[in-house]
Amino acid sequence: LTGARPNRGEGLIRAEIAIVMTGSRRRQKGLDSTAEGLRRTPRVPLHRPFFGEDEERAAAAVVASRMVQGGGIYLDRAEEMLRERTGARHALLMTSCSHALEAAASALDIRDGDEVIVPAWGFPTSASAFLRLGARIVFADSRRDDPEADLDQILRRLTPRTKVVVVVHYAGRPFDVDALRRELDQRAPTVEIVEDAAQAMDSRLRGRACGTLGKVGCISFHGTKNITCGEGGVLLTDDDELAHRVTLIREMGTDRRLFMRGETEAYSWRTLGSAFLPPETSAAILCAQLDRADQILARRRRLVEGYREGLAELASRDRLRLPPPEAPGSRGNGHIFWVLLPDGARRSELREGLAARGIESASHFHPLDSSPLGQVLLGGARPVPRAEAFHHGLLRLPIYPDLTDATQDRVISALNSLLG
Ligand SMILES: Cc1ncc(COP(=O)(O)O)c(C=O)c1O
Repeated sequence: LTGARPNRGEGLIRAEIAIVMTGSRRRQKGLDSTAEGLRRTPRVPLHRPFFGEDEERAAAAVVASRMVQGGGIYLDRAEEMLRERTGARHALLMTSCSHALEAAASALDIRDGDEVIVPAWGFPTSASAFLRLGARIVFADSRRDDPEADLDQILRRLTPRTKVVVVVHYAGRPFDVDALRRELDQRAPTVEIVEDAAQAMDSRLRGRACGTLGKVGCISFHGTKNITCGEGGVLLTDDDELAHRVTLIREMGTDRRLFMRGETEAYSWRTLGSAFLPPETSAAILCAQLDRADQILARRRRLVEGYREGLAELASRDRLRLPPPEAPGSRGNGHIFWVLLPDGARRSELREGLAARGIESASHFHPLDSSPLGQVLLGGARPVPRAEAFHHGLLRLPIYPDLTDATQDRVISALNSLLG
């Protein structure tokens, strides 16, 4: 098709295909939405990268330079920008947040039989990064008012074998790592905190960046995240020794990085590692994104406020629940906006109603403990109840920087009419 219409942008053609496909699927379901109708009422996606010419130019510059593999000037620049923005002593760019978590687990020397506490409301790689090294995963339940892990539920799962507690800043809302650290210092001071800050680029707790609050933090730059380079991540730490280990792990277990800097004559195999260094194209796109990070953050936070204001009426009538307000000293990044439906059974009906109006929505997270693999690990034990409630009732709404006020109003009106 691209070949048949060489003058048209591929993006435009893809968008047309998407509209036609969505239209035909909807016609099958008997919904009133022809391709023409959808063109008049643009589709509202759940998320969309905020890209402009700078990102295009950055990627093109790398291709033109022919230095496309990882380890060039853009890697250094992106890492410097990330150190500056987060305040971390070390920022190591990785191919993904999942790989950053894997490297963190290896660098922390996780072994057979170590216990790692992971929120049930987590992402598969929050757990599998440790599981693959032989750790026993122990799941902690959510809070009642928020899917994030409950501090008390974490503390109850501590044993003498606990080596790490993983925290997830769900939806970019900071988990109170300081409170957890205080409790651990009293009960289990050797236990380290690993932040799965995949969703939390630019979130802050008492002025400090999420990802820098524990021993090590990992952030994602996947295409769905606030700041993106397609696939990518960063590992943050203040620990020099740990950073050195990750530098080796990231490049096949070798000291290639030192060699590239002219600090050794040759490089050799030093430890178990893998290919976790992102290409320069990714690093360059990331630099362009970081240049506009303030703009992205401000717009997303404004959209969160817009939803809170627009849905307050429905919340006051218990038609849905809003996320709790931000705790003092806590600043989210507006990565996800979720609501909780008291009657989970109505969620698919509501999603159909939104889809018929061209609005994408999503459920989120099948809790790890009740997932098929989680159930194998737990030998079929009953899932933790609070995470289960969010699994059945949580609904995510569209949020991305170029979602206009008018389009957000359309989403809010649709919810008001469908739930009101
Ligand atoms: C909480 C959490 N952890 C880890 C990841 C994995 O990130 P990546 O896709 O960069 O590997 C995600 C991705 O959505 C996530 O939401």
